Amino acid sequence: DATVAVPAWASRLRDIADFPKPGILFKDIMPLLAHSEDFRGAIVAMADRWRDQKLDAVVGIESRGFILGAAMALELGVGFVPVRKPGKLPGKVLREEYTLEYRSDCIEVHADALPAGARVAIIDDVLATGGTLVAALSLVRRLGVDVVGAGVLVELDGLGGRGRWEVDLPLHTELVF
Ligand code: PRP
Ligand code: MG
Repeated sequence: DATVAVPAWASRLRDIADFPKPGILFKDIMPLLAHSEDFRGAIVAMADRWRDQKLDAVVGIESRGFILGAAMALELGVGFVPVRKPGKLPGKVLREEYTLEYRSDCIEVHADALPAGARVAIIDDVLATGGTLVAALSLVRRLGVDVVGAGVLVELDGLGGRGRWEVDLPLHTELVF
């Protein structure tokens, strides 16, 4: 097996035990964001996946997907569209409800956020159970756009996220834990 090089910026990710609840090991990206060079390194790595894909926009999932997705959109020279937690978007919205391990949740996008046929990638910070990313895929597709794939900075292995994602749709991850 080829050895996979760990990128320099990976050391800026921090584990926090028992957050947001006991038994959860939280991957904290805040130290990475605070470091200019390493933040840029992570964004460039995520953006490199899409440079030849003729994207029209990056879709970012609230909250941490906003930070990475917006930076990526600037790097790629395309627009940014937020998928938000409920009740935050002022215009007419489409809403997607979904169930996570211990809670149900919902996300929204502006109904007029993107023209039909637009090529988009969906971005978040972490893939865990995959519930959030799969819900975002289904939500954004209702706009009639062409979802080219998704990207996350960190994939947590063993929580089933990868298995819930469509096999034929690219899902890029920069680091797997
Ligand atoms: C976290 C993370 C992903 C999602 C991953 O978001 O940022 O969005 O959970 O989990 P899943 O794959 O099991 O759906 P969280 O809801 O904690 O909120 P935040 O981004 O606003 O901090
Ligand atoms: Mg999140």
